Amino acid sequence: MIEIRPVETDADYEAWRQIRLAVLPGERAPSVAELRRAETPQRLYLLAELGGEVVAHGAADRSNEADRAFVMARVHPDARRQGVGTALLPVLADHAYGQGFRIAGCSIDDEGSLAFAKRFGFTEFLRQVEQVRRIADEPWPAKPAEYDVVSVAERPELWAAAYEQVAIPTLPDLDTTSPMDVTAEEWATEWINDPAAMFLAVAGDEVIGVAGLMLDTDNPDRAEVAYTAVRPDWRGKAVASTLKRSSMAWAAEHGITEIYTWTQEGNANMRRLNEHLGFSYQQVSVNVRAELPLKGVQELGS
Ligand SMILES: CC(C)(COP(=O)(O)OP(=O)(O)OC[C@H]1O[C@@H](n2cnc3c(N)ncnc32)[C@H](O)[C@@H]1OP(=O)(O)O)[C@@H](O)C(=O)NCCC(=O)NCCS
Repeated sequence: MIEIRPVETDADYEAWRQIRLAVLPGERAPSVAELRRAETPQRLYLLAELGGEVVAHGAADRSNEADRAFVMARVHPDARRQGVGTALLPVLADHAYGQGFRIAGCSIDDEGSLAFAKRFGFTEFLRQVEQVRRIADEPWPAKPAEYDVVSVAERPELWAAAYEQVAIPTLPDLDTTSPMDVTAEEWATEWINDPAAMFLAVAGDEVIGVAGLMLDTDNPDRAEVAYTAVRPDWRGKAVASTLKRSSMAWAAEHGITEIYTWTQEGNANMRRLNEHLGFSYQQVSVNVRAELPLKGVQELGS
């Protein structure tokens, strides 16, 4: 029998994390502390048990894309095709609908999961590509003449300034179909996890660019590239590549052997910058969305 219950205890959060690690072994999974820090009344995290074993998890939350919910059911690879995903997804979608959302979306990495999502009326609207870079001997870039490069560990007060001065003006440039909506609170808690691995370009009193790494305590030799952005008035001056090279030099000094990033297929500038820095292409992920309330599989006629 399939039983679905909300995540409550630290043990539940750890079980939730373990499902994520089993389904997405190549991706950084947030720690229990990070998951707890990001709790909001709007967010719903679920566990699904089959025969008393946790075999799946679910998440429903606001998305960083304005007015859209994020819903995601993940079933352990050993427990698929037993109806668990079908039991979980409608609960998540109903929750999002109850929160006032009329569109829900998620990203999908394989054909089988896409077939599953299509049964509920999800359709593709965007693709993201994974770019990966092996880390070897990475020299620190020469000190730029027009600005300084500092880590957030050296200048912690600048992370909040970076939200106002870099994130707010640059988030609209992402190739998303609706505007990005990232709060200052989310910027402070979810967009950075080690201040020593996050770099800022600073000209006078102003932050003009950000780039860095999100470290992974489950896989310490891999790190995910964090949000990279340069203020429009400073573009074309190698600020992003200098910041990225700084984070690659930092990675080499800290035992990291590979870094990876997901970029919207349509974000040609960022893909080109990564290509220029020696990244190569790996997986493709499909972003899908559906109107809420979700249509039942029978209503869709499949
Ligand atoms: C997508 C996912 C949640 C499905 O979970 P599941 O418990 O195996 O799904 P169900 O058993 O409820 O499948 C219901 C139906 O969906 C379709 N389906 C599910 N997986 C499929 C696959 N790999 N290939 C083709 N069709 C599939 C089938 O029609 C299936 O019915 P059937 O088994 O009688 O043929 C699971 O594969 C997963 O965790 N994928 C990775 C995360 C993800 O992409 N989630 C999608 C979020 S919307």
